[in-house]
Amino acid sequence: MFTVRPAESVEEFGRALYGIGQYFGGPPTEEQLGRFTKVLPVERMHAAFESEQIVGGAGAFPFRLSVPGGELPCAGVTVVGVYPTHRRRGVLRQLMDAQLRDAHERGEPIAALWASEETIYGRFGYGLAAWCGEVKLAREWGAFAQPLERRGRVRLVEPDAAAELFPPVWEALMGGRPGVFRRSPDWWQLRTLRRPDEQAANPKRFAALELGGSVQAFAVYRQHPAWDEGSTAARLEVLEAVGASPQATAEIWRYLLDIDWYATLEAQLLPPDHPLFTLLATPRRLRFRLGDSLWVRLVDVGAALSGRAYAGSDEVVIEVRDAVCPWNEGRWRVAPEGAVRVEVEAELALDVSALGAAYLGSVSFAQLRSGLRVEERAAGALERADALFGWRPLPWCPEIF
Ligand SMILES: CC(C)(COP(=O)(O)OP(=O)(O)OC[C@H]1O[C@@H](n2cnc3c(N)ncnc32)[C@H](O)[C@@H]1OP(=O)(O)O)[C@@H](O)C(=O)NCCC(=O)NCCS
Repeated sequence: MFTVRPAESVEEFGRALYGIGQYFGGPPTEEQLGRFTKVLPVERMHAAFESEQIVGGAGAFPFRLSVPGGELPCAGVTVVGVYPTHRRRGVLRQLMDAQLRDAHERGEPIAALWASEETIYGRFGYGLAAWCGEVKLAREWGAFAQPLERRGRVRLVEPDAAAELFPPVWEALMGGRPGVFRRSPDWWQLRTLRRPDEQAANPKRFAALELGGSVQAFAVYRQHPAWDEGSTAARLEVLEAVGASPQATAEIWRYLLDIDWYATLEAQLLPPDHPLFTLLATPRRLRFRLGDSLWVRLVDVGAALSGRAYAGSDEVVIEVRDAVCPWNEGRWRVAPEGAVRVEVEAELALDVSALGAAYLGSVSFAQLRSGLRVEERAAGALERADALFGWRPLPWCPEIF
């Protein structure tokens, strides 16, 4: 049996972090630990002990995540790893259990993560709630479907200026889409703008679009030069391109698409309803490839359901099963004003992982039903639930954490 508790020192934090380091890196250096503990507080790293030895760890960023019509505290689960010497002995289960209880006590109604493998987290109540994809566009297919009147100006800025200019645009994205987490100033500085290792190898460029007297869009990108028999085979890697309005978004993408001397523009983590699909004359040429994005776990079903907005005016009674967080079990009436516990007959019944999948408004109950994840006990309940929960635009988490 193992003991799991939050790390109590940077040294313990480092040993717990080496759980994931076993697979994705090495033991963290002091400098890396100094940077990482600025965004992931020491006590948010759970460590699994076998007597004095740490054999695994799991962290949770103290995020605020945008949800349909609002935002909520969210445990941003990260760096989960168990030493290969101790695999499949229940260490992860104990870590997940302790982490979810901790998030519950802290008043974080939801948890979210990017999964390294999609088979791991369903058993702990996470559901796949958002999709994203990558695009690869040959430069010659960058024309827009309609002429764009350019109203703004793009300038390249240094990281210090970007740290001032970019956050309001990110805030606008958060206000407009579910699935976005707020970045602290340390996050901007240490993760988005200057990771020393990355900057030395191939520096990121930071572009700011000014429109109507303020920065309304930004892009972070890298050039990967290459030649093919005398012609360019360079790649333009767009790490982030975000606009606060449709015009600003169109202009920052026009800037990127028009950059000279690249053969292919590549971008990842774009939502299926990204503006590029309607801006471009030839969206098929994006060769969009879909993958999974955020997995969502309702840590406190009542608070999570009451913390988001709903589109419809109807209501539905849902029975929730939750083997890991039993405080969520029972029947909930969900209506536009929020969710309350009830004792009446349920109209839908599901595991909390299916509710997590539906939570951000992208995955419909009808879709979950077709995968046998929801039981409809009253005719018409699926339709009512979908009218309530469905949300546009789709969730978008532009960064893997
Ligand atoms: C994934 C990992 C954390 C699992 O840790 P573990 O301690 O071996 O897992 P546990 O023994 O607690 O397993 C708990 C349950 O999850 C299942 N499980 C664990 N890892 C799994 C995987 N990769 N795929 C499918 N099921 C998995 C176990 O079979 C067990 O199922 P059960 O409760 O039905 O018996 C560990 O293998 C690891 O560190 N992998 C590499 C790093 C990684 O992928 N981390 C996740 C980052 S998002």
